[in-house]
Amino acid sequence: MKRGMWGTRLGFYMAAIGAAFGLGSLWRFPYVVHENGGGAFVFIYFIILTVVGIPLLVGDLLIGKLTKRSTISAMRQISAQQTASGNLQTLQRKFRWLIAMISVVVCIFIVGYYSVLSGWVLHYLVHFATMPFVDVSDKTGDLMNILRERGLLQVLLASVHLILVVVIVGKSFEEGIERFVGYVMPIFVMALIFLLYQVRNLDTLDNAVQFFLYPDFSKLNLNSLGAAVGHVCFTLSIGFGAMITFGSYLKDEARVPATGFRVAIMDGLTTLIAGLLVFPLVFASPYMASGPELLFQTVPNFFVESEGGKIFGLVFFACLYLAAFGASLSLIETVVANLTDVLRLERSTAAWVAGLICFLTAVPAALGPNMLAQFAWGDQNILEIMDKTIVNWFLPLVALAMSTIARKRLNEKVRSEEFLLENDSGSEIMYHHWLFLMKWVVPPVIFLGLGLQVVALFQ
Ligand code: PHE
Repeated sequence: MKRGMWGTRLGFYMAAIGAAFGLGSLWRFPYVVHENGGGAFVFIYFIILTVVGIPLLVGDLLIGKLTKRSTISAMRQISAQQTASGNLQTLQRKFRWLIAMISVVVCIFIVGYYSVLSGWVLHYLVHFATMPFVDVSDKTGDLMNILRERGLLQVLLASVHLILVVVIVGKSFEEGIERFVGYVMPIFVMALIFLLYQVRNLDTLDNAVQFFLYPDFSKLNLNSLGAAVGHVCFTLSIGFGAMITFGSYLKDEARVPATGFRVAIMDGLTTLIAGLLVFPLVFASPYMASGPELLFQTVPNFFVESEGGKIFGLVFFACLYLAAFGASLSLIETVVANLTDVLRLERSTAAWVAGLICFLTAVPAALGPNMLAQFAWGDQNILEIMDKTIVNWFLPLVALAMSTIARKRLNEKVRSEEFLLENDSGSEIMYHHWLFLMKWVVPPVIFLGLGLQVVALFQ
């Protein structure tokens, strides 16, 4: 089957950045930072982003580029090569297959609750868009209550989102993602910087900056390291197979490491801006916000109360929706690529099948706070349980397995050539740094993060 290819290098960057920059930076990061006590978490997060995230991202892209396959068939191909050289054990093959399957299942679940969240964004977007015309309540806190109580409304909104995503992805990869995401990102970053400028006069700014950037290590808990590793994976789209799929569309002449590096830097910067924007608003908000609702309980309120804020609210939610849409496209693309590679389904059929399966995982997430409230665990409803389990446990595990494959099973010569820079300088050093981090830093950090989480479970 003929594979799509990125038309331009910029197109690939835009799409990889579009995948990285979704709800992770704006919705997820602030709520996780809030739970883990602020600055100290942010500090370790950025270290892990650099020494664990970048090498892992490069590893995923390399697997995709060198095999030209999506996750499941990439694993098959690597196993087949090893069988040919006569040193593959059945157990190893099965293990790889299992890891690839887990990565696809993880993707499916994430698309599910991501759609519910995207539905929330749509709800706010419609609210801000209709504000000038209808006499709607100014209390944005009510909006969250409405959503929380009405499970079917959430299911409806998530379905609208999923259908839009499926229609676009079903058409074709390049047409679907490359062009689309390219336009959204710069607008959103500009809007965020502008909002940051608006927030500068709030009296809560000092406290918020102190909370967000001053590292008080006593506030960390046993889950913090795992949460940091998990969020790095989530935000850079590692452990989903997404970047393997993306790498498989890369042209031969494109260089992987530089791409990984730039994507991570862009993502880190937007995350930082998001934190600086959201925390002053969290501190200023009349609602006691926490957990996955944090962003939705705080930011809209600011828009309603500040002068001209309603327009900003509209711009903000329009951009946030487009970012969520771009990320959803890449997520579902990963499922679709696996379905077309493995089951040889037509692209559009695969898109609808993927959409339907993801819908099934969206329903429990939408009904968690209402009809399925009895399945809550402490104060965490189904959406939050899904999010934490997948991100803090499964993503690091898949990422770890993929890192071993990228380090041990790819052709040494071809792989090291990827590190050649255009002018040939520095490549050796970069390659060795990458290998070092993949061997001596990535596995211990992930093991430690997971191990501490296990200890916390038993406490
Ligand atoms: N990285 C995206 C975010 O931060 C989520 C995502 C994961 C998107 C995998 C695409 C693929 O929201």
